[in-house]
Amino acid sequence: MNKRTFAKSLILCTALGWAGISTAQEAFKVGLILPMTGPFASTGRQIESAAKLYMAQHGDTVAGRKVQLILKDDGGSADTTRRLAQELVVNDKVDVLAGFGLTPLALAVAPIASRAQVPTVVMAAATATITEASPFIVRTGFTLPQVTEPLAEWAGKNDIKKVVTLVSDYGPGIDAENAFKGRFAAGGGEVLETLRVPLANPDFAPFLQRVRDLSPDAVFVFVPSGVGSAFMKQFASRGLAEAGIRLIATGDVTDDDLLNGMGDVALDVVTTHHYSAAHDSQVNRDYVKAFRDSANMRPNFHGLGGYDGMHLIYQALADTEGKGGGKALVEAMKGKSWESPRGPMSIDPETRDVIQNVYVRKVERGGDGELYNVEFETFETVKDPVKAAKKAAS
Ligand code: PHB
Repeated sequence: MNKRTFAKSLILCTALGWAGISTAQEAFKVGLILPMTGPFASTGRQIESAAKLYMAQHGDTVAGRKVQLILKDDGGSADTTRRLAQELVVNDKVDVLAGFGLTPLALAVAPIASRAQVPTVVMAAATATITEASPFIVRTGFTLPQVTEPLAEWAGKNDIKKVVTLVSDYGPGIDAENAFKGRFAAGGGEVLETLRVPLANPDFAPFLQRVRDLSPDAVFVFVPSGVGSAFMKQFASRGLAEAGIRLIATGDVTDDDLLNGMGDVALDVVTTHHYSAAHDSQVNRDYVKAFRDSANMRPNFHGLGGYDGMHLIYQALADTEGKGGGKALVEAMKGKSWESPRGPMSIDPETRDVIQNVYVRKVERGGDGELYNVEFETFETVKDPVKAAKKAAS
């Protein structure tokens, strides 16, 4: 080998070496965008704690690749979410986007996910159509129609014939209203009136007065996690229970993170949801204990969306042998199934939504003095009904 060839091969080896080293060492970056401040900060706090717990339990290396979490606070503003997502993709070159505490925040990111081909794991936002906004969106929480239809069915079979619905006036609320109305009417029930309350700083008083005047058997309620306490206070002070009007709701209202602060007014409220901190399984008991120990609070359903979201990301990264890649990761996520603290769950390969059990629960005081959503009936392996109906019609 003459001097020149030797120098050339040295340069080539160095270049290859560098390339090799840099791919091996480059972290797999997960950009986690959450409302850490503002009225929905409890969702951010829950998901951040759950994601960190998952990494503490499972290590920060998958198939030889180090996983790095980059947390950003969007304060619940869609404009901020969009800007942060853009920066994470362009500057930080994240491999995955995740989080999204509210529907408008998830929808703001959908065009970026599609354009940059970045898998986007929606851990909290729950309007049915979100997964249709980009083929790169995968959901690990739930959809409102998925958890609401079982409640409408249960109500119809449990002496509830006339209902007024009361929901927050935006995507998931409208989903809940439509799902309740449709399913309840199919079972022979009647929805007397549909009331929509503004999402920001809601004053429930005039709406609750209207419910009282209409005198239904029950009021069906959806408000997003974080708003349940304010609702419960006003529900108690308007004397609806004394007037014989039952409260039925999605589990967002009796959120496990805030339930203890609601007090006795929450007792006996029947809700449907996919997760309760009281879910009776060893996997869940271990999860609740680990969560309480590490985050000093009780896990709620949004936190679990974050925990299962990290599980899904880890599994997909392992499937690609640490290589990642937008399309490969989304393909790997489709059809994955596992036992979550909520019970069995899987990712529907057609819709990228969660297929899971939905439980009917009642608020009771546990032996430890805390309030719990105690599950007493199960609707098994429920798919998002909106997409199932669309598929049946096509
Ligand atoms: C949503 O904005 O999609 C959302 C937020 C909180 C919930 C449910 C849905 O509890």
